[in-house]
Amino acid sequence: MSNSEEDRRRKYEEALEIKSLRRIISAFLNYPEAAEEDLKRYERSFRRLSQADKALLSHLPEKYQRMRRCISRNTFFIFEMLKAFDPPLDISQDPDICKQDPQNVSNNTKETNHCSCVPASSRKEFHPEGGEASVGGGGSIISKFTKTTSPPPDWLDPSLQMRVPLVDVDKVRCIIRNIVRDWAAEGQKERDQCYKPILEELELQFPNRSKESPPSCLVPGAGLGRLALDISCLGFASQGNEFSYYMMICSSFILNQTERANEWTIHPWIHSNCNSLSDNDQLRPILIPDIHPASAGITEGFSMCGGDFVEVYGDASQVGAWDAVVTCFFLDTAHNITRYIEIISRILRDGGVWINLGPLLYHFADLYSQDDEMSIELSLEDVKKVAVHYGFQLEKEKTIETTYTANPRSMMQNRYYTAFWTMRKGATANLLP
Ligand SMILES: C[S@@+](CC[C@H](N)C(=O)[O-])C[C@H]1O[C@@H](n2cnc3c(N)ncnc32)[C@H](O)[C@@H]1O
Repeated sequence: MSNSEEDRRRKYEEALEIKSLRRIISAFLNYPEAAEEDLKRYERSFRRLSQADKALLSHLPEKYQRMRRCISRNTFFIFEMLKAFDPPLDISQDPDICKQDPQNVSNNTKETNHCSCVPASSRKEFHPEGGEASVGGGGSIISKFTKTTSPPPDWLDPSLQMRVPLVDVDKVRCIIRNIVRDWAAEGQKERDQCYKPILEELELQFPNRSKESPPSCLVPGAGLGRLALDISCLGFASQGNEFSYYMMICSSFILNQTERANEWTIHPWIHSNCNSLSDNDQLRPILIPDIHPASAGITEGFSMCGGDFVEVYGDASQVGAWDAVVTCFFLDTAHNITRYIEIISRILRDGGVWINLGPLLYHFADLYSQDDEMSIELSLEDVKKVAVHYGFQLEKEKTIETTYTANPRSMMQNRYYTAFWTMRKGATANLLP
């Protein structure tokens, strides 16, 4: 590729990323409006009741007003989070993508399903304060954030906001539920189901960890970063990898900017009127984060790395770089799970350990997409066969029952019977060059 072609491609990719970032930020900013629309719908339905039923349910209008106050609180948290975000690109401009497109193909920001988001186009160490990439041992998680007093940055100007499809705002609601999973006392039960078995296995596998030379552990698809942080606190040089800006904006805020435990109050469960035991249950406040990350006792080398797992860790520099890889609810996010497994094998040193916990709810299965996106959907039996092909030996295997971002007080609790395993990379892995 010539220099000018390369330049054009780079500019095009940047323009795409700016566009996705603007759309994601708009989704966060659209949150209160979308929530207000829901409330208006509830109120319209209420008005259609007979007088007798209205009298019977006379507390509902007050409930909707309370919900408005809850939405304001969530909005305040979201807005403070956005104010603390330092975009990696200048998003105050609206690039003309068609002009930049090297192939002049039309393009839409890519969408994936439940809880997955627009990918960052390439590897980026995520360092929202423009300083060190890692939130490392020397106290670099120290907050520089001044609550409420700091003015919003230019790129938060309402004129730059666009209307986004409701499915984008749903992703914001999804992030709010993820906050409970990772950063609220109420998520402890779910963390005990999902993260504890992994942490216990890591302790077993690496009994003689030294502070001077801690074993390295990668957590692809790290979500809001709690598992990666807990692994760091256990004495590992831990790196979380995540490609969703929705997740990264939020994890960066919690990891880098919170000043104390229970600093923020959110109302995560207000967006569904279904399966509530009571209005108070539905509207209950949740304090976050349950711990102060900067005081949690992390090990030197903790970092969050933004970017697509395949792009970032498929790089030759990553071969044999990790002592452990931990995948939690991640494998089924793949377009091609065999590629994930191959990369996990490549980046582990010989004798390195892969610990997995998760279902196989393939994210690209049954997509009503015109894009005809690739989706390789294997059974657990086939996943293990592929792992063996890529040089893994299965050392431990069990089924663990878990929930995922479940409201613990809801009358509906979806359960997964997740596959948990420990595999070790043998010296004779079948790797592509
Ligand atoms: C189901 S969530 C699980 C998050 C976290 N591990 C947990 O257990 O809560 C899957 C995560 O993987 C991320 N993800 C999906 N595909 C990815 C990719 N190719 N590279 C990096 N992260 C990815 C998603 O954005 C999402 O945060």
